[in-house]
Amino acid sequence: MAIREPSSLLLFLLTLSALSLSSESRSDTNHVSSPCADAKVQRSDGFSFGIAFAPRNSFFINSSSSVQLSPCDRRLSLSSANSQLALFRPKVDEISLLTINTSNFFPDSYGGYMVAFAGRKYAARSLPAFVANSTFTVTSFTLVLEFKKGRLENLYWKRDGCASCSGNSNFVCLNNQDCAIRTNNCKNRGGSVDCSLGIQLTFSGTDKHETVFNSWYEVKNLRQYSLYGLYSNLRNSLTSQYNKFF
Ligand SMILES: *[C@@H]1O[C@H](CO)[C@@H](O)[C@H](O)[C@H]1NC(C)=O
Ligand SMILES: *[C@@H]1O[C@H](CO)[C@@H](O)[C@H](O)[C@H]1NC(C)=O
Ligand SMILES: *[C@@H]1O[C@H](CO)[C@@H](O)[C@H](O)[C@H]1NC(C)=O
Repeated sequence: MAIREPSSLLLFLLTLSALSLSSESRSDTNHVSSPCADAKVQRSDGFSFGIAFAPRNSFFINSSSSVQLSPCDRRLSLSSANSQLALFRPKVDEISLLTINTSNFFPDSYGGYMVAFAGRKYAARSLPAFVANSTFTVTSFTLVLEFKKGRLENLYWKRDGCASCSGNSNFVCLNNQDCAIRTNNCKNRGGSVDCSLGIQLTFSGTDKHETVFNSWYEVKNLRQYSLYGLYSNLRNSLTSQYNKFF
């Protein structure tokens, strides 16, 4: 991937894989590769964004403030905080499942929260989402990228109120929103579950030609926030191991 690391973020790249591998296709007209620059996209373009892992309070301007800044904002000095950065370039309006392999990366060692972000002048960032601490690990997320006339306006985590794990005693429902596994059930943490993070992406709003994105509609009408079954590559890793374990 030809993504340059933003200069304000001297963070490490994680090993990552995006299942939408179309970013180099000829139909990608978006030449903005940095997640800290502004892009205006049309359907089937690639779109770069980042996910930063850090302690919750390091996403705010200071510990007594509720002003959350973009990880691209130098005032945050995330690079000197305990943080990690993952970069992705999915294809706009394609439902994608991003995975972050946690066999060598323990999110709880980096503060346990993540923020999705993109843009500079038109900076958008999600609220910090709890990923893991030494007791619990959340492995499944849905991120909505909301565009208006091709510009990213909003990034938010879509929760299902624990519908996907209700009645399953191997999961704990945290704050009525996240299905969590006990961290000591994870591989390399004393257990056998691959606790790699799965982040399902969907796109809503309009592209620069005001074409309406459909992928959010498709997610709502397919399965309730759980598209793992659609991804044959992952069926053999993430999904089946859940079935085996549970
Ligand atoms: C935190 O940030 C706010 C807003 O910029 C500022 O008013 C306040 O003085 C800061 N507090 C500390 C302890 O730095
Ligand atoms: C993560 O990496 C490990 C070691 O390379 C591999 O065995 C495992 O299948 C990977 N998990 C996923 C979900 O890709
Ligand atoms: C881990 O996070 C959960 C949910 O936010 C919280 O209830 C618990 O106290 C935390 N445990 C530790 C050891 O921080």
